[in-house]
Amino acid sequence: MSPRKVPAAKGRLGVLLPGMGAVTSTLIAGVELAKKGLAKPIGSLTQLQTIRLGKRYEDRAPLIKEFVPLAGLEDLVFGGWDIFEDSMWEAAMKAGVLSEAQLAPVRKELEAIVPMPAVFDQDYVRNLKARQQKKAATKFELAEQVIKDIALFKKTSGAERLVMVWCGSTEVSMEPSAVHESVEAFEKGLKSNSPEIPPSMIYAYAAIRSGVPYANGAPNLSADIPALVELAERNGVPIGGKDFKTGQTMMKTVLAPALKARMLALNGWYSTNILGNRDGEVLDDPGSFKTKEKSKMSVLDACLDAKRYPELYGDYFHKVRIDYYPPRGDAKEGWDNIDISGWCSMPMQIKINFLCRDSILAAPIVLDLVLFLDLAKRAGFKGIQEWLSFYFKSPQARPDLAPEHDLFVQHMKMTNTLRLMMGEEVIDHSGLDYYEPEYGSPAPAPAPKPYVRERKKSRAA
Ligand SMILES: NC(=O)c1ccc[n+]([C@@H]2O[C@H](COP(=O)([O-])OP(=O)(O)OC[C@H]3O[C@@H](n4cnc5c(N)ncnc54)[C@H](O)[C@@H]3O)[C@@H](O)[C@H]2O)c1
Repeated sequence: MSPRKVPAAKGRLGVLLPGMGAVTSTLIAGVELAKKGLAKPIGSLTQLQTIRLGKRYEDRAPLIKEFVPLAGLEDLVFGGWDIFEDSMWEAAMKAGVLSEAQLAPVRKELEAIVPMPAVFDQDYVRNLKARQQKKAATKFELAEQVIKDIALFKKTSGAERLVMVWCGSTEVSMEPSAVHESVEAFEKGLKSNSPEIPPSMIYAYAAIRSGVPYANGAPNLSADIPALVELAERNGVPIGGKDFKTGQTMMKTVLAPALKARMLALNGWYSTNILGNRDGEVLDDPGSFKTKEKSKMSVLDACLDAKRYPELYGDYFHKVRIDYYPPRGDAKEGWDNIDISGWCSMPMQIKINFLCRDSILAAPIVLDLVLFLDLAKRAGFKGIQEWLSFYFKSPQARPDLAPEHDLFVQHMKMTNTLRLMMGEEVIDHSGLDYYEPEYGSPAPAPAPKPYVRERKKSRAA
């Protein structure tokens, strides 16, 4: 396959964020601190990870950001919408993820970023009340207002390109319906104020209509409907979602594939969380919790493939709880109790106690999605970007394909996509070609290195 010619990332990249609370303010603060050399972008693959190229003996492993043409942190400019008019400084202070002392060096930069009035409707996020929101007779007109905001932001910020990532609250649970089936039905629904169209879909529609790549960090449907996938393909816009894969679910998609790989049976998995941030308050409403619960529950079935292994995974008990507990703020605590069984059905247990920080885990995911979606657009990719499943709890995939949940398969999918994009060989990790010539090693292996003598020498030194 011949590589795509990916144009360089020239000029500023505008990052538009509907929802400017804990995750957004932590992302922006971290980027501004990193630009000044005052923080490390830990957790971000685009900033820190290398990618292996070619055969193992070639020892080629450039940084991802040097291998593919990504925008630099210094090129990013931020904007967005919220129902609260708090600047990013005020939002960060309220969220309490980073301390005032940590944030002080970037106070000026954070104070300068103030949210635009949101498209909001309390029917979809019941535990919040808007202090600023757009008004219009129809949802179509609201979308037009967002499209105008996008164009204005591009002009005033001097951005060459834009990306949008939904970091807004989790909306109530909703199933896809007729109004979501086609672009025509969706636009009709916007004009007739269909209750099946929540604000997150209005932002997604506005982004895709404006040619702006869109990702959804929450579990609500947003762009995961046929109408918006169709519009994205038609307009050449990359999209991705849903729900950032940060703490407990990341651990699940590491551990469940390990159990399956070793053919250990699962009898039950009980997961509970306490958290006290605004996200926790929103999830205290049963409608929003249901959306999150669906997203968190789906990963185990998918990782374990119960249909193929009914004896091992056909009848396990799975429970997920999230409890709003204000004293903890953003410092979420997750417990998992896992009952498994092994040889001769003997029972065993695994316990995980993850004392994490929600927004600290989410911020680098948003940064990577921004940079990779911008890359995807320049590479000419459009529609669902399944190679970005790595970042999501409920990865969007073509309807006839089961989404991939295993974190390491997702990682391989992503790195191989980058290799393909740049015309490098896909790595299948079988390693057979190093030992069995008929499986074709394109280059003869060089003479082996004198390990023993070198080791002795370094010991003597
Ligand atoms: N932090 C994590 O680990 C994590 C992981 C997965 C998903 N998420 C999701 O990411 C989202 C953001 O998380 P957070 O911790 O920053 O929450 P947050 O409550 O601090 O911020 C969300 C913001 O969205 C705003 N908002 C709600 N509806 C809006 C609308 N229609 N338009 C514009 N703004 C709107 C709220 O006012 C709030 O300021 C949530 O949906 C959360 O479930 C977070």
